[in-house]
Amino acid sequence: TPAFPVYTQEEVSKHRTLADGMWVTYKGEVYDITDFVALHPGGSKILLAAGGALEPFWAMYAVHNQEHVLEILNEYKVGKL
Ligand code: HEM
Repeated sequence: TPAFPVYTQEEVSKHRTLADGMWVTYKGEVYDITDFVALHPGGSKILLAAGGALEPFWAMYAVHNQEHVLEILNEYKVGKL
């Protein structure tokens, strides 16, 4: 498996627009979800997590607590926190 780069929370928080790239974190991993935003079944709500953690949002929307959702997320992994 490839070694993923380590990013700080500050670096992640700079990626909160489609132009700068949209990054999120989940369980200590960093994901660049720029290309997924337009594909999200839950529409623009995904933008609320831009530059930050998915956990508080996924705690509210339990639809994400499924293996197939984590498989999608995993496709966008770019690093670790
Ligand atoms: C639904 C992925 C972030 C709100 C879904 C579904 C997927 C998905 C695959 C469909 C699940 C199913 O029906 O089996 C993702 C990924 C995210 C993300 C990969 C982050 C990278 C968010 C965030 C929010 C959100 C941050 C809210 C702030 C919703 C809602 C639905 C949904 C409300 C239900 C849509 C409906 O069926 O009406 N998401 N999501 N999602 N998502 Fe997300």
